[in-house]
Amino acid sequence: MPLTTTRELFAKALKGKYAIGAFNVNNMELVQAIVEACEEEKAPLILQISKGARQYANPVYLKKLIEAAVSLSNIPIAVHLDHGDSFELCKQCIDEGFTSVMIDASYEPFDKNVEITRRVVEYAHKHNCVVEAELGHLVGVQFDEGEEGGGFSKSGHYTDPDEAVKFVKLTGCDSLAVAIGNSHGAYKFKGDQRLDLERLKAIKKALMDAGLGDYPLVLHGASSVPQYLVDEINKYGGKIVDARGVPEADIEVARRLGCTKVNIDTDLRLALTAGIRKVLWEKPSEIDPRKYLGPARAMVKELVRHKVRNVLCCAGHAFD
Ligand code: G3H
Ligand code: 13P
Ligand code: ZN
Repeated sequence: MPLTTTRELFAKALKGKYAIGAFNVNNMELVQAIVEACEEEKAPLILQISKGARQYANPVYLKKLIEAAVSLSNIPIAVHLDHGDSFELCKQCIDEGFTSVMIDASYEPFDKNVEITRRVVEYAHKHNCVVEAELGHLVGVQFDEGEEGGGFSKSGHYTDPDEAVKFVKLTGCDSLAVAIGNSHGAYKFKGDQRLDLERLKAIKKALMDAGLGDYPLVLHGASSVPQYLVDEINKYGGKIVDARGVPEADIEVARRLGCTKVNIDTDLRLALTAGIRKVLWEKPSEIDPRKYLGPARAMVKELVRHKVRNVLCCAGHAFD
């Protein structure tokens, strides 16, 4: 099956009230684990590649790995640039055949973010590529004590519903990554682990009221940091202390409120690391990479099966 665009995937996901998992890939084992899991669960899939992944693996290797996975599977797969930080990088990926790119100019002031995003949208749409943009800062509650000295921001860091409407109208972007207390990595919260779901609801409503319809929103930083993986890593010589992710219950609410694309990277890293550590701890003389990467790949696969089946609820929707 040829690569799919996220436009098609989102339209079906919004109708069916499920979310598509966007999983980061850097190497062969991750590509295999994710694609095999989604194939077995009959789940539509977004494979995403960051600038760092391109630097690590080389864009040609990643492209060929994905081509191989696509040729061996039947499910719809979109290939997406994660956190593209410039027009030039987005253009490069569009020219290489990515079906979706993210331009993340959220580090710029509003007007500059609009200008850069618009430029990417114009180029992408001419080449049948879909664009995700971002408004607000993914600082997370841990780094943002809010205006009243605790909890969520009243303004500033997080996505403002009215600004979101203005931004989407001015840029023509196809989906929007929102900042609602989410952040990247394994250390997302100090106290309460929760997203500002009221803000998410308000953003969705503002877009709907402005005539933009059931507009696709994207949740970055959606790893849950499962305790069993942290425990496994620590049991076999790791040191992960005070790591906290987004509760699966919050992801489920976000999905029902219209977060159509849910980004997961950290949980894959935890699963792969746990698998490698266990083998090397139990068999310190092991030197065959297949003997530790194989079990680690199996752990990633199990994790992805759980996500698509029980959290994103996209299992069984590959052929909607
Ligand atoms: O958003 C960040 C993703 O987890 C990708 O991370 O830039 O280290 O590849 P990376
Ligand atoms: P996590 O770090 O929570 O996995 O988020 C990944 C992400 O947002 C990639 O863009
Ligand atoms: Zn992200």
